[in-house]
Formats: sequence, structure tokens, C-alpha cells
Amino acid sequence: MKVIITKDYEEMSAKAFELMKQVVTENPSAVLGLATGSTPLGLYERMAEDHKKNGTSYKQVKTVNLDEYEGLDISSDQSYVYFMRENLFRHLDIRPANTNIENGKAQDPEAECARYNALLESMRQDIQVLGIGSNGHIAFNEPGTPFDAETHVVDLTESTIRDNSRLFARIEDVPRRAFTMGPKNIMNARRILILASGANKAKAVLGLVKGEVTEQLPASVLQRHPDCTLVCDEAAASLL
Ligand code: GLP
Repeated sequence: MKVIITKDYEEMSAKAFELMKQVVTENPSAVLGLATGSTPLGLYERMAEDHKKNGTSYKQVKTVNLDEYEGLDISSDQSYVYFMRENLFRHLDIRPANTNIENGKAQDPEAECARYNALLESMRQDIQVLGIGSNGHIAFNEPGTPFDAETHVVDLTESTIRDNSRLFARIEDVPRRAFTMGPKNIMNARRILILASGANKAKAVLGLVKGEVTEQLPASVLQRHPDCTLVCDEAAASLL
């Protein structure tokens, strides 16, 4: 794993943008695996700004997102489909039909997981952006998820519900279940870009980089990926 330590969040975002821009410039019809959460927001801002200023085009780009809460309406401002539209897609020239995410309202969750797995097989991510949960989760793969799991529905852990409740009016409003790509779908990406910022991620980052490769810390599987780059700020790197 390549580790890049930056001074702060802004520098982390700038470095992540540099790597992302390289992928889109080299291959204008790249498949981008994208993540939600606070961590990639600085990267997305820079992508939007660069599109506006320099005209970098996303017309041929396709995207696949990691995960989505179960049961939220797509109009809900807490849904990840809403997050992606507001924070990235509406600022680019990307075709909405080229953006993909699990349908959190699917009537048949198993069929939805199968649909998403088939889709991922037909479009391998050229780059997969990841954040990391304070408990070491990637996407919504909580500790204990088998490394060979594909897209599935998960029961979120109390720690994830607590962490994510900051974005909801009340903790009771946080959905208890979510759809998520599995570690196997993530590991299939040609290249991984994992981002981490802040002292509350330091323990998870230590496990990611130097810990034992174990399903108890889902991110540790990335040690086995042939082309994985971690960009993190000094606070997140403080235990390395
Ligand atoms: C959520 C998302 C993950 C994200 C993680 C960290 O649970 N499902 O994809 O990486 O939280 O979020 P943040 O970047 O807000 O710290």
C-alpha cells in the first residue's frame, strides 16, 4: 500500500483530486467507484471546480457508488443518491443514466443485490474511492463481514449508527439497514484510493496499514490489493 500523509484535510483533498484527474484524463470513459461521507467532499468540490474552470468532461464517464441506506425515498436529503447528486453530479456534465447506486427502496432486496453485482461485473471500477469508518469499515462492510462477500444488505452496528447520526435530526432517524458493495466488489477495482482525515480515524488507519489482515477490520483487506493508495492527514496518521 502506498501511504501519502498530508498536513491537513485540504491538502488531502488536493492530492486525491490530482490522482482522480489523472484517471479521467487518461481515460475519458473511465468507471469511477465513488463514496459518500464527509471525507470525499473536498475531492468532489475540486472535481466540480475543475470541470467549471478547465472543462474536464465527464460525458463518457460512468460511476458506481458503494452503498445506500435501505428504505429512504430518493427525494430524502439523507439518501446517498441525493448526496451524490447535490455534492457532485449536478456540478458536472455527467449523464444521470451513467450513474449507478443500489436502489434503497427495492421491493426485493436479494434481486437488487444480484442486479448490482451483475452491473459491477460488467463495469469494473478503474478507480474506487473509499472513506473509512472509525471501526475500520469500508462502504457499509462492518467488522465480521467475509472478505468474499458481494453486494448485500447489512444491519448497521451501533457505532456506525452513532457516527452517522450527526447528519440526521435525531439518532432514531438513522436507518438500521443498508445495501453495500462487498469487499470482493471493492477489491475488484483496478485501483483503490482510500482517504482518511481526523484523529477519530487514527486507530482504524493503523489497522488498515499495519494491522493483521482480518475480517474484524474490513479495511485491512486492502493490504492485499496490488494498487492501493491511502491519502490521509497528519491527525489520521498519528498512530502510524
Ligand atoms: C459511512 C459510509 C462509508 C464512509 C464512512 C466514513 O458509514 N457508508 O462509505 O466511508 O461512513 O464517513 P465519513 O467520511 O463521514 O467519516
